[in-house]
Amino acid sequence: MLIEKFITYVARKKNFRYLQFSPGSTLSALPAADNTQRLLYVHVPFCEELCPYCSFHRVVFQEGLARAYFDALRKEMLMYNRLGYAFSAVYVGGGTPTILIEELAQTLRLAKQTFPIREISVETNPNHLTSQNIDELKAVGVNRLSVGVQSFDDGLLQAAERYHKYGSGGEIAERLKLTQGHFDTLNVDMIFNFPSQTMAMLEKDLSILLSLGVDQITYYPLMPSAYAKEAMRKKLGGSVDFKREKKFYMKITEMLEPEYRPSTAWCFSKSSSMIDEYVVHFAEYAGIGSGSIGYLQGTVYANTFDIGDYIERVSRSVFPFVGRKDSSPKERLRYEFLMRLFGLRLDLSQLAAKFRGNAYRCLWLEILFFSTAGALKKRGHLLTLTRKGRYYWVIMMREFFIGVNNFRDYCRAAVNHKS
Ligand SMILES: C[S@@+](CC[C@H](N)C(=O)[O-])C[C@H]1O[C@@H](n2cnc3c(N)ncnc32)[C@H](O)[C@@H]1O
Ligand code: SF4
Repeated sequence: MLIEKFITYVARKKNFRYLQFSPGSTLSALPAADNTQRLLYVHVPFCEELCPYCSFHRVVFQEGLARAYFDALRKEMLMYNRLGYAFSAVYVGGGTPTILIEELAQTLRLAKQTFPIREISVETNPNHLTSQNIDELKAVGVNRLSVGVQSFDDGLLQAAERYHKYGSGGEIAERLKLTQGHFDTLNVDMIFNFPSQTMAMLEKDLSILLSLGVDQITYYPLMPSAYAKEAMRKKLGGSVDFKREKKFYMKITEMLEPEYRPSTAWCFSKSSSMIDEYVVHFAEYAGIGSGSIGYLQGTVYANTFDIGDYIERVSRSVFPFVGRKDSSPKERLRYEFLMRLFGLRLDLSQLAAKFRGNAYRCLWLEILFFSTAGALKKRGHLLTLTRKGRYYWVIMMREFFIGVNNFRDYCRAAVNHKS
């Protein structure tokens, strides 16, 4: 337990520094000889209703605003094109990207006309798994559909305020059965460590998942942000108890493997060819849409969380940035260490080539610490995570995302203060 506390403490401290943004940002044209594979993250912040545990940038759906927003997304995409950026994959996250399916389809068609896109991933909710939506998404070339389920337990779904909107556990399972097989990858997002969740509830969810046989399962630990903590305490029956997390995680890995193999510390896939966490597979990504966060050429930047301001700035062809953080070579190296190992393996020789030989000199303490703790195995230049190490990476990524969530809270509060 001590070691988990220590990892939490250090990760929290480092993330705090990593996410210290300064106001404003510009984006310069891409150097001509650049061949880095980049992903385009597209954020759609509209939801029919807002779940109490969620710290993503989301607002209640208004059709007129959402249509103007999709129009702005397409304009912003073309702004990146004019600077010479090319993307090989698109990830549309939310909010609920399928809230206006024809607007989403038009946006994805433009992305494919503009960039050499090979993979498209889209997030959705169970009530949007209709045959019409599935046909539309397939027609536009979506390879991976990710459905937010969280749990099949009706009591938990009620507490999470999803039951009345997205259906009972049984209804969600039926919709997933109808969707399985239509995409290269059907991913299901689940959450573990809800305050009122018991081990028996988790085991039941895992048995349902195994019987459905979906292609991929992402099992997030519940990540509270400072802002969502109070709502979670009131609605989900208590505060998040991190001490229970490890037992739940070990149960997940024990029940899902070997039928599913881990593809990141919290994602489990049936086959190896599937796209999952984009932060693992892409060293760089642009973020378009209100509240998006991008990472290009060593700079982390965020777009405005004010949707009206976003639309207005993009209509003037101005990048809607609110803040940036230029990372030092050491910070970039640590970021790569965290993300590559979240994807379970890290080739030190590749990292050394990228950072001109400095990799081992900068990371020796981390490597020594995690190897001694039984988290890492080193064979030649290759570092891989052990099962124990995968849980340590769950802690570090949980802390990383809580840091991002707190940053989102801060940006949202600034918007509310302004209005
Ligand atoms: C932000 S949602 C967007 C897609 C869709 N609206 C949905 O609800 O699935 C994507 C996923 O993030 C995860 N998520 C949201 N808030 C979370 C939190 N506080 N802790 C852990 N996972 C969370 C949920 O599993 C959710 O399905
Ligand atoms: S979990 Fe999904 S549906 Fe719920 S508020 Fe967050 S983005 Fe919207």
